[in-house]
Amino acid sequence: MSKESLTVTDNRTGKSYELPITNHSIRASEFKKMKVSESDEGLLTYDPAFMNTASCVSNITYIDGDKGILRYRGIPIEQLAEKSNYLETSYLLIFGELPTPKQLASFTNKITMHTMIHEKMKDFMDGFLHDAHPMGMLVGSVAALSTFYPDAKKLETEVSRNKQTYRMIGKMITLAAYAYRHNKGLPYVYPDNDLSYAGNFLNMLFKMTELKYKPDPVLEKALDVLFILHADHEQNCSTSAMRSVGSSRVDPFSALSAATAALYGPLHGGANEAVVRMLKEIGSKDNIPEYIKKIKTGEFRLMGFGHRVYKNYDPRAKIIKKLAHDVFEVMGKNPMLETALELEHIALEDDYFVSRKLYPNVDFYSGLIYQSMGFPMSMFPVLFAIGRTAGWVAQWREMIIDKEQKISRPRQLYLGYDTRDYVPIEQRRPESASKSNTDE
Ligand code: ACO
Repeated sequence: MSKESLTVTDNRTGKSYELPITNHSIRASEFKKMKVSESDEGLLTYDPAFMNTASCVSNITYIDGDKGILRYRGIPIEQLAEKSNYLETSYLLIFGELPTPKQLASFTNKITMHTMIHEKMKDFMDGFLHDAHPMGMLVGSVAALSTFYPDAKKLETEVSRNKQTYRMIGKMITLAAYAYRHNKGLPYVYPDNDLSYAGNFLNMLFKMTELKYKPDPVLEKALDVLFILHADHEQNCSTSAMRSVGSSRVDPFSALSAATAALYGPLHGGANEAVVRMLKEIGSKDNIPEYIKKIKTGEFRLMGFGHRVYKNYDPRAKIIKKLAHDVFEVMGKNPMLETALELEHIALEDDYFVSRKLYPNVDFYSGLIYQSMGFPMSMFPVLFAIGRTAGWVAQWREMIIDKEQKISRPRQLYLGYDTRDYVPIEQRRPESASKSNTDE
C-alpha cells in the first residue's frame, strides 16, 4: 500500500476501498474493483473530452496553465525562443537533452539530407485541384509517404525509428512548400542544403528565377522561433491523435497524417486563420464594443482567446507579440494590428473574459505575423503543423517504448436500447421513424 491513498466507500455494498495515490493521480482501473456482484464489470470513470484524465506518463513537456508556464524537457520556452533554434529544440524534445555541438551538427545534417521527396510525390500533388486547401494536401501527402517507405513499419528498432524521425521532420517543409506552390501554379523548388531549416523552407516557398535564394534573416529567425513555440504542447488534440493512431502500431507517417488532420480543425490549428477573418470582419477599432457584446451573448467566440489548459496569459502569445514587431519592421505594419491590440486591451479588462480566465493564446498574434510575411490564410495551420512535427514525433517515440501503453481504446457508457427485434420494412410506422435524420 502506498503512503498516500484515497478511501472510497461504496454505498451500494458498504465496502470501503483504498485507492493508492501515485504522482498525484489514482488509476481509473482501481474503480473496476467496485462491484455489486461477481458478474458486475465494476465502475467506469466517465470523462468526456478527457477533462481530468491522464492518458500517459510523459517526460517531454510541462505546462502550468494557471501560472502560464511552458517548458520543454524542463527548459522554459522563453529561453528556447531566445537562445535555441528549431532543430536543436527538436533534438531536445526527441532525445531528452540538449545536443553537444557534434550531435547537433549530425542531427541537422541528417534532417537536411532527408528534405528531398520522391519525384512521384509531385504527380501526387498535381492530382489535387488547383485551389485545394494546403492543409488537406498535407494530410493526404503525409499519409502517402507511408507508401514510399514501407520500412517505416519497423517500429522495434531505434535505428528505424530514428530514420523515420529524420524523414518526417525533413520532408514536412518540402510537402508544405509544394502544397503552397501548387496553389500558386508555380513550379516546385528543390531543397537547398546550404540553408537553415527555416531558410530552406522560405526558399522552397518563395524562390522565383534567381539562381540562389537568400532568405531575409529577420523573417528566417521569426519563422524559426514560431516553429519552436509550436513544437510541443503535451497531450493536445493532435498529439493525442498521433499517440492514439500510433498505438495501433501503424507506421508513423500514417499516424502523423492523423495528427495533421486533427490540427486542421478550427478549434485547434485553424484558430489563427479564424483570428484574421475575425479582425477583417471587425474592420476598425470603433466596431469592437459591438462585437464584444455579441460574443458575450454567446453568438460566437473571440478567436485566439481561451485555452483548455492556460487560465493565464499563454507564454507563447507574449513572445509572439514581441516577434510581430520585428516582422513588421521588415514587412511594414499589419493594418489589423491596431484592432488586435485594442481588442486584447478591452477583453482583458472585461469581466466576462476575466471571470472565465480567457487570455490571448498562441494564435491571437501568429496569424498577423504570417499574413505580413506573405502567407495566405490557408497556409497558417500548415505552418503550425511543421513546428508541431517535432513534438508529435517525440510523443510518438515515447509512446512506442512505454511498456505500460497498449492499443488506445476508450470505454463508453452505453445508454441505448436494450435488445429488440428487427422490424421488416413494410411493418415500420412513420411515428417510430428516426427523428435525427432531417434530410427528407
Ligand atoms: N470567446 C468567448 N467565450 C469563450 C471563449 C472565447 N474564445 N472560450 C471559452 N469561452 C467561454 C465559454 O463560452 C464558456 O462560458 P460559459 O461557462 O458561460 O458557458 C467558458 O468560456 C468555458 O469554455 P469551454 O468551451 O468550456 O472551454 P474549453 O476549455 O472547452 O475550450 C477552447 C477551449 C476550445 C480553446 C476555447 O477557449 C475556444 O473555442 N477558443 C477560441 C478558439 C481558439 O482560439 N482556439 C485555439 C486554441 S490554442 C490551440 O489550439 C493552439
